[in-house]
Order: sequence, then C-alpha cells, then structure tokens
Amino acid sequence: MPVISRIRILTLATAALAIVAVTVAAPSWSQANRGAQLIKYRQSTYSVLGTQFGIMGAMASGKAPYDAKVFQLAAERAAYMSTIAADTFAAGSDTGAPTKARPEIWSQQAEFQKLMTNLQDRTAALATAARSGNLDTVKPAFGAAGQSCKACHDKYKLD
Ligand code: HEC
Repeated sequence: MPVISRIRILTLATAALAIVAVTVAAPSWSQANRGAQLIKYRQSTYSVLGTQFGIMGAMASGKAPYDAKVFQLAAERAAYMSTIAADTFAAGSDTGAPTKARPEIWSQQAEFQKLMTNLQDRTAALATAARSGNLDTVKPAFGAAGQSCKACHDKYKLD
C-alpha cells in the first residue's frame, strides 16, 4: 500500500476516534454558556425521570389502573435516564443558571456517587421487577427506588 494512502487511513482512523472520544466525554457546547447548558441537561434529565415515576406512582398507589406494559416501559425509561443523570453533574455545572443542586455535591463526591449508584441499582431492579407483570412484585421495588430519590434530594437538592 502506498505510504500516502496509509497515512490517509491513519488520519481518518484518528479523526474517527477523536470524534468518538469527544462525544462520549461531553457534549460539545461552547465554553461561554457551558454551565447553563449542563444545568439545562440535568434538569431535563430529571424532569423525564420524574415523569416516569409519576406514571408508575399513580399505578402503584391505585390512583390509576395497573397496566403492566405501560409500567414496564416507564420503569425501563427510568432506569435508562438514571444512567444519564450521573453524567449531568460534570465540572462547571454548579453555576451558570438557576439550579437547585447544592454546592456540597462537588465537595462530597464519594457520598454523592454512592447515592447515584444506589439510584441506578434500584431503578434497574425496578425494571427487572416490572417484567414480572405482577403489581405485588412491582410495588416494593418501586418503593425502594423512590427511597433512593428522597435520600439524595434530602441531602443534595435545595427545596
Ligand atoms: C444522586 C442525587 C439524586 C438522585 C438519586 C435523584 N435526584 Fe432528583 N435531583 C437531584 C438534584 C441535585 C436536583 C436539582 C437539579 C438542578 O436544579 O440543577 C434534582 C432535581 C429533580 C427534579 C426537578 C427537575 C427540574 O425540572 O428542574 C425532579 C423531578 C427529580 N429530581 C426527580 C427525581 C426522581 C424521580 C428521582 C428518583 C427516581 C431522583 N430525582 C433521584 C438529585 C438527585
């Protein structure tokens, strides 16, 4: 293979890798309003997560009839949103727009991450329980997942 095309392939491969790295590491927002963008991303993520919990909560409390398929979809979406939630506290996301995230989040990372992992574990367990299609199985898993929300809000979210 001629040297030139080898270099070209290498350059292309490097460029492709660089794009992947940037996409995975952080959205490519401009530095100027990065804080505001990250805060918007976080609040939107939690808003979607909260909506899924509203759907499931109505069924778990008997305010809405239990529809196993709808519940399962909400549980899977909640588990997925929980994986995104962890990304939305990146450095620089503490200021730039109104936020209810307490500043201690960034000085107590070990404790905060524990609560985040707990959220992910419990929403994943809820998604598994939801596959049973059985409200009696789903209810305690929903309660446990809800506790993981409260544990973090009590400590790290402003009222
Ligand atoms: C590890 C910490 C943590 C966990 C766990 C957590 N939250 Fe939050 N949540 C926050 C913080 C911090 C904010 C404030 C975000 C902001 O204003 O920038 C927030 C904000 C919210 C909001 C308001 C979003 C908006 O529109 O501004 C909702 C709704 C919400 N959370 C729902 C939930 C639900 C439901 C769960 C559990 C399934 C949960 N949260 C678990 C930390 C957490």
